[in-house]
Parts: sequence; structure tokens; C-alpha cells
Amino acid sequence: LSGEALERFGGRISRKFSFLGKNRKDSSGRRHDWPNFDSRTLFLPAEFVKGLTGGQRQWWEFKAKHMDKVLLFKMGKFYEMFEMDAHVGAQDLDLQYMKGEQPHCGFPEKNYFENVEKLVRKGHRVLVVEQTETPEQLEERKRKTGSKDKVVRREICAIITKGTMVDSGMISDNAEPSFLAAVTEKADNYGGSLVGLCVVDASRALFMLGQVEDDSARTKLRSILTELRPVELVLPLGLLTDATQKALREQTRKPLISQLVPSKEFWDAEQTTKEIRTSYGASDVMPTVLQKILELGVSSEPVLSAFGGCICYLRQSLLDGQLLQLGRFELLPGSDLSFEHSAAIPEAAEAHMVLDSAALDNLEILENSSNCGVAGTLLCLLDHCITPFGRRLLKQWIVRPLCNIESIVQRQNAVVDMQGVAENAVSEFRRELSGIPDLERLLARLSANSGENGRHSQKVVLYEDAAKKQIKELVAALRGFQKLVKAVSCFGNCLPQLKSARLRSLLTFGKGFPDLKPLLQYFEDSFDWSESEANGRVTGGDHSNLSASDPREKLESYLKSQQKFFKNPEISYVTVGKDTYLLEIPEELHTKVPSDYELRSSRKGFCRYWTPRVKELLQELSLCENEKEAALRGILQTLTKRFCDDHDHWLSAIRAVSELDALMSISSARLHMDGMTCLPTFVPASQLAKPVFRAKALRHPIVAVSTAASTPFVPNDVVLGGGSNPEVMLLTGPNMGGKSTLLRQVCLGMILAQIGSEVPAESLELSLTDRLFVRMGAKDQIMTGQSTFLIELLETAVMLRCATQNSFVALDELGRGTATSDGQAIAHAVLHYLAHNVQCRGMFSSHYHKLASDFANDPSVSLCHMACKVGGGNNELEAVTFLYKLTSGSCPKSYGVNVARIAGKPKFPSHAHVSRSFHAGMPESVLRRAALQSAKLEKEVESHCHEADVIKTILDASVDSAEQLRTAWEKAKLI
Ligand SMILES: Nc1ncnc2c1ncn2[C@@H]1O[C@H](COP(=O)(O)OP(=O)(O)OP(=O)(O)O)[C@@H](O)[C@H]1O
Ligand SMILES: [Mg+2]
Repeated sequence: LSGEALERFGGRISRKFSFLGKNRKDSSGRRHDWPNFDSRTLFLPAEFVKGLTGGQRQWWEFKAKHMDKVLLFKMGKFYEMFEMDAHVGAQDLDLQYMKGEQPHCGFPEKNYFENVEKLVRKGHRVLVVEQTETPEQLEERKRKTGSKDKVVRREICAIITKGTMVDSGMISDNAEPSFLAAVTEKADNYGGSLVGLCVVDASRALFMLGQVEDDSARTKLRSILTELRPVELVLPLGLLTDATQKALREQTRKPLISQLVPSKEFWDAEQTTKEIRTSYGASDVMPTVLQKILELGVSSEPVLSAFGGCICYLRQSLLDGQLLQLGRFELLPGSDLSFEHSAAIPEAAEAHMVLDSAALDNLEILENSSNCGVAGTLLCLLDHCITPFGRRLLKQWIVRPLCNIESIVQRQNAVVDMQGVAENAVSEFRRELSGIPDLERLLARLSANSGENGRHSQKVVLYEDAAKKQIKELVAALRGFQKLVKAVSCFGNCLPQLKSARLRSLLTFGKGFPDLKPLLQYFEDSFDWSESEANGRVTGGDHSNLSASDPREKLESYLKSQQKFFKNPEISYVTVGKDTYLLEIPEELHTKVPSDYELRSSRKGFCRYWTPRVKELLQELSLCENEKEAALRGILQTLTKRFCDDHDHWLSAIRAVSELDALMSISSARLHMDGMTCLPTFVPASQLAKPVFRAKALRHPIVAVSTAASTPFVPNDVVLGGGSNPEVMLLTGPNMGGKSTLLRQVCLGMILAQIGSEVPAESLELSLTDRLFVRMGAKDQIMTGQSTFLIELLETAVMLRCATQNSFVALDELGRGTATSDGQAIAHAVLHYLAHNVQCRGMFSSHYHKLASDFANDPSVSLCHMACKVGGGNNELEAVTFLYKLTSGSCPKSYGVNVARIAGKPKFPSHAHVSRSFHAGMPESVLRRAALQSAKLEKEVESHCHEADVIKTILDASVDSAEQLRTAWEKAKLI
């Protein structure tokens, strides 16, 4: 607390709530410093509770069970926040404190979605306690049951966190899914682990289940996390290995974490299996993916347990029923689980290029390295989708490029069609769909609404018009699907000319795109969409004449009879506040007013009454309105349910349009890649003994567009492998010469090619790449010393073990994280191993010029450098002009090689240490060679130590003039 709040409320807790301070216990009576203390709950002393008023007691009772959450307590039309939660409201929602000594603030019902979203995005868990009884209902209950309750009944209706926001009111602005991931594992004795994952997108009721057999660095888990970046993690308390925890920490962005007690709150496989069997009963309603996982038996334990943890958590959040019932179950992309091809599980069988988290990060595929934003990423370059579902699919395509020539060619053909015969249809399609709502989420929402749950349940006292909102959503969905149909029809004319069979299928009603017309017609006939949307009630169709005798007419004729009775035609009905149909009678007639007329209010010269008959009719009116309301609500529910019955049809329409949208997005990528582009040609493996990459005038798709006009990007021809060319290139050149850029552009070229997109080059011929290994120095700045080196070794070991002949390896300055001699030795050994043992395509950039002479006569390695022009500078310093041209041969001279790097006398890491980390999987031959080289180099370095000391002394002495420099130099030479 600070400022005014501190002045007003400081010390309140210690004064009034001693049980919150040092003496705090959880609901089971464990003190806060005991093991197993559950900070989520609070022990409330009985005498404290006794002293509370009804409403306060209710609040404390909810709060004591949910100390980790911010409680929104509904009172009438307002959500109120008290005590510690009031401070959250003041701080995070900018609410004003109310008067009085108790911290208290609140907001009206209409701000519910906005404020809950704000709280949740700030990382709070929000507990929504709704009123489930009106004051009238309370009176009725008291009368009927003799209850002495003084306050209306309240119940928890929702618990909302980052990963469980489902309401369109909270998430509509953001197409990015907020994933919740439950993770557990079964570790082996060698550092590896079988990791089970259940990832949920609550807004689409989507469950993705998967399991990976992971290495000690948790490479696969990291890739999955990098792609999905879950905002919320559900973990079994104390059960995960350090390696897994580290991966979870490093590959997420400040997620909300819930640690659940294993087996009690995070079920094991057995408990989960039991639960699945009871929930789904007969197996024919059980989702196929679940069925298949159950069939796997013991080997699927981690994924089952992760699913169990997820159910437990969703149950705590009151979402399990809703999500599980209508949940869509899929295999987690990137997971090792796969089943024999089954219609219900598409895509699982498709082969993909593997991009691990190092590749995704280093190549800035989804996030840039400067601020983790999307600017400057490959995703940003390719994403021109107009639908949120298309965008989500495209992201999957980018993270998992295809690894099958046939599938790639299918996409390429679609790209050709879209740029050619279907060009106009594409623009029409996009125009038709611009601004379309997120139908996938709407579908999930409507299915949830068709049931009775949480805040939607009838008993919750809400002043907002829930029916109106639901109609709006239903109509929005119907209109959306109508638009999809219209958009797909745009292609009618060019359908026969399309080259791509896939495209033809997606655009044919009843084939790749379902025939929605009869369904939509049914809903058009059932009700009037526009009118219903406008007045918030189902209108039109057969539902118009619901109210038979309207008590309003009776009220009007009663007024006439009263005018007659008082002999005054001026008498009329008025409404004052909540009181309607008050009879306003001039004061002078008061003698004639019967004694059973109830005086409600008055104004100068007039008195207002409710007569017994008016009261009777008012009751009739309210009853009638309630009935009508209920009937309309029933009709709305029936319509919604009818809509949801065709869930699969709607979903397959969404899928087809996602694919079309993603294809269009790819096909328009060339417009954003300045200059020549081409569709690459793939060389089938059988035609070539060795893989190839042959690019003419290749550019970096992003840097080439962003470089200044004064220094236009220099395209380069790159040839790796194929025929007599060496597969591996050793690249040298000055700092800032364009080495890293070239490495990246080759990688991005491969990725673009296998996504099915055009590439920024005049031509590109390549064979398929099964996996990209990218090791860049980009992250080195933020890590220091030995840890960098260790990470480097670990990653290199993984790479050497996993790379196949069809992989591509890009190593940028390998070995620079350690002393020159060691680094050079490692670089030498790894390069040698790659060129001679793995024999895959690779690029290796380095400042170790010694390396170039080592491999000068090796026919498996081509030596290249980034050209530059030297000379023309003043003094002895040479001016370097970068030409950015890839040139064969090694760099003639090491310009600007960082003096400081050789100046500091190398601190050699203990060799025992080095070899231990090597043993993480580095091939034996690499080890031997590295050791030999290391010894050789060390000798050389020792002999240069004197010079190094001299230079270091100069650097240490702060010199700021040429004169001082000369003095320092003379002095240093004397050492
Ligand atoms: N082909 C090119 N044409 C024009 N400019 C380029 C080209 N390649 C790189 N550049 C520019 O040069 C800058 C430096 O490139 P890069 O980081 O790839 O150099 P480097 O050789 O890896 O340097 P270092 O050895 O210091 O890591 C880039 O940021 C880019 O602006
Ligand atoms: Mg570089």
C-alpha cells in the first residue's frame, strides 16, 4: 500500500485480522511454516466468524477457501471487492475506494468482461461469486422453510485465469490462443524422459494430447513450448525433473503456474483411465484419440496422467463438464504419438521437417530476438490471413514445414493457381471474408451456452440480457457461415481450370467444403435474424404469436373504469422508479379514494396509488412476461442446440476455409519479398546419391526488404552438395561481413521451400531436409562464460547424434564461448565429423582462420568468405568496405578480429570438466581429435602469451590520446 491507501488502511490487517499474520494457518490447521501448508486456504477462527454480519461472513467464507484468488462478490447490480481484493481493484482496475474504514471498491455488471480480462491478464486468478437468489426469492424461501437467513444465496460461478478465459467478451480482440498445458513425465536413468502433455485451448474447447521421448536437454518439449508458448502451466508438485523444469522455465513467458498435489489433485494414469471410462461410459461416444491412447496401455501413462491433471484443474475452475463434453480431442502436433492412419486423426501421418526451439528462436520464426514480438519474423512475412482460424493453421504450417515432395507440390500448385487463373476469385474471396468473426470460437461458445452452467445457469441473478447476447452470437455465427459459402462460391467460374486438385476439392461443395446451404436455409426459415438480433428475442418464423391475452389491455380498461368512478378523465397511470401503473389522482378527490388503495407517493396536488386490482394485474403481467420469456428462451435454446448438432459440418467448413486462407497467405508472400522470387524445384532422393542445395541469387527474405535503399541487399549464389560439390561450407570473413545473415537466409530458404511458398531467389533446386540444426551466437550476449560453453557443447552433441544425411546444419562461430584453443579444437573436430561422418549439408562460419588452413585440402569442405574491399583509410588503420559477396577461398586477412578476444590471457576451463560434458553424447572420434588439436593449439597460444600480455596492459591502461598510447606501448614492451 502507498499514499492515501496506506494512510487509510495501513495496519488494518495486524489490528483486525490476527489470523492473517504470523499465526496464519490453512484450513486444515497447518501453520504457515509447516510442511504441506496450503497457502490457497485460510483457517478462520470461530469467534471471528461469530462477530460478522451475514454478508461479511459469506465473503470471508468464500475467501478462506480461495486465498490465492481475487474475489468478485456480486451485490445487486455491482461486483464488489473487499479488503485485500479492494487494493487489487484500486491498483489494477483504477477503481476508487468507497468511504468507510473497510477497503472496498466495486464496478457495475456491465463492466464485468472488461475488468475480469484486465485482472486475468495481470496474472490474477479471478473468483466470481454470483447472487443466485433475488431478495424476493429469499423472502419466499424464508416464508416456506422458516429459514432465518438474512442474506441472499450466493455461489461460485466461475474461476477465470489466463488459460481459462472462454468468453468472447474477454478474448475477441486476440486471435492467438491462450494455451493451458498440463505436463508430467516418467524419467529414465540416463537423463532422458517420457514427457506427457495435455494442452488445452479453452476458447475452442480443444484438447491436444501428446507424449515425447525426450533427451536430457528436453529438445522436443522445448520445441513444443516454443511453438505454443502456454500462458498457464499445471504441474504435479515435486514430481518433475530439473531438466524438465528448466525447459518449462526457459521456453515460456511468465506463465501462471499451478502446482497440484500428485494423485490427489493431479491424477495418475490409472485414476485418469477410470475417470475417462466413467465419463464416457460406452466407448462409441469416446473421442477416437482418447480411445487410441487408452489402447496403448502402459506406454501412454505420462500422457494419460497429464490429461488427468488437466481435468482436475479444469474441475477446480468449473470448466471440466463443459469442456470435456464438447471437447475436440486431437493429437498434439510435434508429439511422438501416432496411430495408424485413421480418418478421425488426420495429419498425424504427414512427414514434417523438424524445427527445434533453437532453430525457431535463432531464425526468428515466430518471435524476434529483440522484444519477442512478431515484427521481423518469418510468421510476420507470411501471415496475410484474413481469418483467425486461417492464421492459426498457417502458424502450424510454418513451424512444421512439409517433408514430402508430393504434398509440397500440391501446395505449390495451389500457389500457382491463386496467382494465375484464380487471382480475381482470390481477391473476391478475401473481400467477402474480411472482418469475419472467429467462427471456431463462436462454435465452441454456442455449444457451451446450449448447456446450463456457471454464469449461464438460470438461477444466477443477472441484469444483463444473456439471451440477447446469445442471439447475437448465434446470428453472428450463421452470418459468418453464410459468408464462407459465398466466399467459396467466388471460385465457381474458374474451378475447371485449376491445376491443383486439392484446391478444386476444397472449393467444391459437398467435397472438401461441406454443403452448408440446406442447413443455413433451415435457420433462415426458422427465424428473422436481423429482427431477433435487434430486439434480443427470437422473432419471425413460427415463434411470433406467443402472448395470447395481454394483461396490458386489461390495465387500460381498468383505467377507464377508474376515470368513470372518480368522474375525472384526467386520471392516468404514471411510473415512479420501479413502481409502474401508479394511479395519479388529484388531491381534492381524496375523500373518494377507497381505504384499500395503497398510497405510494405524491407530488404537489396529486397522490399516487396502487389499487388492489392494479396489483393483481401487475402480478398477472409479470407472470405472463416471465412465461413468454421462458418460452422464448426455450426456443432460443432449441435453435442453439439444433445449430450445435451439426458441429462437425460447421467445423469442416472452418477447416476448409482455414486451408484456403493459409494457401492464399502463402501465395501472396512474394509481394512482400521485394525482387525476384521463384517456386523451388525438389530433387527426389532417388535421383541423387547426395542431397543438394543450389540457389541462384538468394536473398534473406526479411533483411533484404529492411536494408536501407543506399545499401541494397546483395544476393548470393549458394551451392551445397549435389554431384561433386562439397556438402559443407566453411565461411570466413570480417565482422559485420554478412556471414550470419547468409547462414540464416539459407535456412529460411529451405523452410519457405518446404512450406510450399516461393523463395526470394532467381532459382532454387534442393532436396528435402528432414531437420534443421541451427546454432547461432545470438543468445550468447545474455549468457556468460562457462554456461554458454556448456550449452554450446550440449547442443552440438545433440546435433551430432541426431543429424542424418538429409539434415542441414548451420553453425555460427561454434566454439567462441570458450578459450581460443579449446574453441578452435572443438570447431575443427565438429566440422570434420560433419563433413566425413554425417555427410549432411551444412554451413560453418568462423573467425578461426586457422580452421581454413586445416581444411584447405579437404575435398569435403568448401572454403568461402564474405568479400570486402580494404584500403584508403587514414593512419595505419585500414578502412573496410563490405561487399557482402560470397566468394570462394578463405578470407585473405582477419580484419578487425577482436583484439580484446586474444588480449585477455585465456582462462582454460579444467579439462576434466570439458570431457565430462563432451560425454553427453559426443562421438568418440570427435573427442579424440579435439583433444589432439587442443594440445597442439595450446602450445601455440602459450608462445603468443607474451604479446597477449602486452596488448592487455595497453587495454587496461586507460589511454585517450595517441601520445598516451605510445607511452603505454613502450612501457608494456618492457614487461
Ligand atoms: N547480402 C547482404 N547485402 C547487404 N547487406 C547485408 C548483407 N548481408 C548482411 N548485410 C548487413 O550486414 C549486417 C551484418 O551482417 P552479419 O551479422 O551477418 O555479419 P557477420 O559476418 O555475421 O558479423 P559477425 O562476424 O560480427 O557476426 C547485417 O545486419 C545486414 O544489415
Ligand atoms: Mg555473425
